[in-house]
Amino acid sequence: MDSYWIDSTKKSINLDSLKSDISADVCIIGAGIFGLTTAYYLSKSGFNVVVIDKYNIGEKASGHTTAKITSQHGLIYTYLINSFGVDFAKKYLQANQEAISNIKNIIDNEDIDCDFEYQNNFVYTNDQNELNNIKKEVDSVNLLGLDAKFVDNIDLPINILGAIEFPNQAQFHPRKYMLGLAESILKNNGKIFNHTTAIKVEKNINSYTTFANDNKITSKYVVLACHYPFINIPGFYFTKMYQDTSYIIGVKTKNKLFDGMYINAESPTFSFRTAKYNNEKILLFGGLGHKTGQGTTFDSSYGILEKEIKKIYPDSQVLYRWNTRDCITLDKVPYIGVFSNLMPNMYIGTGFNKWGMTSSNVAANIVCDGIKGKDNKYSSVFSSTRMSPIKNRWEMKNILKESSYSLLINKIKIAPDKLSNIKNNSGGIIEVDGYKVGIYKTLDGEIFAVKPICTHLGCLLAWNDLDKTWDCPCHGSRFDYTGKNIYDPAFKNLDTFDINT
Ligand SMILES: Cc1cc2nc3c(=O)[nH]c(=O)nc-3n(C[C@H](O)[C@H](O)[C@H](O)COP(=O)(O)OP(=O)(O)OC[C@H]3O[C@@H](n4cnc5c(N)ncnc54)[C@H](O)[C@@H]3O)c2cc1C
Ligand code: FES
Repeated sequence: MDSYWIDSTKKSINLDSLKSDISADVCIIGAGIFGLTTAYYLSKSGFNVVVIDKYNIGEKASGHTTAKITSQHGLIYTYLINSFGVDFAKKYLQANQEAISNIKNIIDNEDIDCDFEYQNNFVYTNDQNELNNIKKEVDSVNLLGLDAKFVDNIDLPINILGAIEFPNQAQFHPRKYMLGLAESILKNNGKIFNHTTAIKVEKNINSYTTFANDNKITSKYVVLACHYPFINIPGFYFTKMYQDTSYIIGVKTKNKLFDGMYINAESPTFSFRTAKYNNEKILLFGGLGHKTGQGTTFDSSYGILEKEIKKIYPDSQVLYRWNTRDCITLDKVPYIGVFSNLMPNMYIGTGFNKWGMTSSNVAANIVCDGIKGKDNKYSSVFSSTRMSPIKNRWEMKNILKESSYSLLINKIKIAPDKLSNIKNNSGGIIEVDGYKVGIYKTLDGEIFAVKPICTHLGCLLAWNDLDKTWDCPCHGSRFDYTGKNIYDPAFKNLDTFDINT
């Protein structure tokens, strides 16, 4: 099922794919909210920009988000003060608060009709331990200069022990916003190509060549806005980020819906906001985040959300179900700036930790200032070249082994009893003559067999029974049951087997 955002904007701008070699000042790889915001600012300042996307613009993480525009990224400020100091935490807060006004300014200046509305944002709890953390967070945020309040009563009809309230945050329809940005980029003579996959970027003396769809884009600057970078070395982002998936349902109820946007402090996480739906409102209820590639079923995802929401709104009717994932950094701070000190003029914005609406605007401003040669007062907070903490040293070794994983066979004989362990409309890994084989059986018993080894850096994939996909537990790449790559950072399809039984 599509997200509500995609379903309600199906008639997107008609864009071509790249069919010839071109050149530009800046090549932006990825047309999610970060890539489009960066292209918007640069094209407005007179840069000649080219944006390419593997799919249609704004359809990946940014088209499946909850789209709360807030600087309240959970209970982050006490953590930031304790880990990095008051000055650092203050800049993080200011950068994200400014992002809310920047987004509003873009919407006003470009006249983008995207259901933007100011709402207060709340982190609430029902857990005594978290209550103390919420009270501490109020003190921390007040110390940083924002007038946050402790409240013990909220408009959402649930019992709580307490909540922290941030005033004047916002929510919008993210795909309408991104389509508006795209129209402005085109008006400013920028170019955007859909269905154009970058597979390699080569450094020349004073420029870069991006290879995409058998064509080349030559540019002085490159911005990696592709969510999880597909370039492994240098940069080494695979050692410092993983991906985390969450689920959202769009629900209709006859009850009057609440004002405000909400998320709880404890686990599992539950998130609430409303959205305009024709002339009514629907409730977007999400959460249950987990590391991508851990295996998922309906009962462990949407099933739980549907039961939980019925406790609050017994008449609720589910209109939409969707899920997506985001890049998570180990120190909870995004990576924004130069991709690597070895690659000048190549920039990145990633690791938005499920708070990419404001973070992408912060990132676009830092990257644009970098390209213009201007200082940005927030760049040191988000420095992309910081090397610690490192996720897993095993991954550094694994990349060296990557080339030894090529497929040695493409036909395989499988005894029928091995296949009988896998039910129709389900999948799993079986071992045949020492080879791991990923099997999916359709409802009618047709068999699809893939090599379940991720084409990014060689991790063993896990079967996702909810979406019928192969998901990678290392950095979150995903493949459909035929082996086609559907999510970054991998971009190559899986090898497949012909099966004889
Ligand atoms: C369930 C969930 C709820 C969330 N809710 C919120 C929220 O309420 N508020 C908030 O602030 N944040 C939220 N987030 C986070 C936010 O959605 C993301 O941080 C943000 O959308 C990421 O934007 P992006 O532009 O980096 O990535 P994307 O939107 O994924 O864009 C990257 C683009 O790059 C393209 N691409 C990838 N590889 C290539 C390639 N090789 N060549 C060409 N193109 C390529 C992709 O097709 C894609 O379109 C949520 C995240 C999740 C998972
Ligand atoms: S996503 Fe990196 S190994 Fe799979």
